Amino acid sequence: MKFNKLLIGLMTSVTLVAGAAQAADLAIVSGDTGTGLAFLRTQLDIFEKDTGNKVTVVPMPSSTSDQFGQYRLWLAAGNTDIDVYQTDVIWAPQLADQFLDLTEAAKDAVGEHFPSIIESQTVNGKLVAIPGFTDAPALFYRKDLLEKYNKEVPKTWAELKATAQEIQDGERTGGNADMYGFVFQGNAYEGLTCNALEWVKSYGGGQIVEADGTISINNPQAVAAIEEAASWIGTISPEGNLAYQEEESRGVWQLGNSVFMRNWPYAYALGNGADSPIAGKFDVAPLPAGEGADARSAATLGGWNFAVSKYSPDADEAIKLALFLGSSQVQKNRAINQTNLPTIAALYEDADVLKAAPFMANWKEIFENAVPRPSAPTQAKYNQVSSLFWSAVHDTLSGNGTAAENLEGLEADLTDLKGNAW
Ligand code: GLC
Repeated sequence: MKFNKLLIGLMTSVTLVAGAAQAADLAIVSGDTGTGLAFLRTQLDIFEKDTGNKVTVVPMPSSTSDQFGQYRLWLAAGNTDIDVYQTDVIWAPQLADQFLDLTEAAKDAVGEHFPSIIESQTVNGKLVAIPGFTDAPALFYRKDLLEKYNKEVPKTWAELKATAQEIQDGERTGGNADMYGFVFQGNAYEGLTCNALEWVKSYGGGQIVEADGTISINNPQAVAAIEEAASWIGTISPEGNLAYQEEESRGVWQLGNSVFMRNWPYAYALGNGADSPIAGKFDVAPLPAGEGADARSAATLGGWNFAVSKYSPDADEAIKLALFLGSSQVQKNRAINQTNLPTIAALYEDADVLKAAPFMANWKEIFENAVPRPSAPTQAKYNQVSSLFWSAVHDTLSGNGTAAENLEGLEADLTDLKGNAW
């Protein structure tokens, strides 16, 4: 931060004489869900104590799409106020030029992390960010309600729809007029890309753009998947779900007003919080599979990292901060307090972690089979690809055109955007 430069300048002579390290005044920018920012503060307090540096958090909205728009502008303008950025797993290829190469600084730490995550943050041999946590979603379900209605955890979307409808109807008749069957992230933003990629992949309909750059989204399985999701709106899911991001779906769920929810693991700790009416009444399972020959359960790969701005005036201390936030110590605290998934394999066998988040024993496998969004093949154009995709899906869910029409239009738009090559 520029603010204390003068002060630090004045102090330098004193600290040099005293032989102490020069303290820096750093700023980290982060958007997060739930209590994510409050947790970050607790870890920064530890870092401040250990290093003598000061760290200010610049809070951002939780929508990753909103964050990306803002950060891209700041970085393009060479902003020197922000030293460390909390970055989404999909951003590395798009923002790589604006961040420092952390290969050398992280050489002792990289071996601890899953190689696939390090790879996702490496662009042309440059390590763009240190992994902080990974994300693979879950089907959250109400154990008590499934028991009451004598139902199994659904394994297919068709089963989910039938069970959600039956319990929703039963609970409404029983007096809870606000009850819904299923909530998810249906707003027109990156979160809908994650949800819809899961539907499409679960029907064997590919990954929008394949690893080799082929545009694959206009196919019958993808059409069937998105039509199925459209049938939920106004039946098992509220109309308002078309505007929900993570926190709005969690709000409905955590009040006890939904049988099922698709969300990321962070919602596990919060749902079991002391003030939560559904504490102890729910569990998590893999998302349902679709129909067809290649049907499977599919989870979109998410996750967050820490990158150092190349415009940081305190790069050395900023790098220390990024390394600290990705360390095993912080990731363990994060897994216990926030139920965020670690990027360090050993923590999935840690007794304290498994006590706080028993589901994590099964989540390493889900994360390892998670489906990446096509940010690597589409490079700098990923954000446009995603925004065309989520718009086509949002239109379909809103009743503006059929899935077949909207995916045909999407294919044409993606072909234009691609041109000769991504
Ligand atoms: C979660 C994921 C992130 C994804 C976002 C979408 O935060 O970790 O990768 O982009 O959700 O809303």
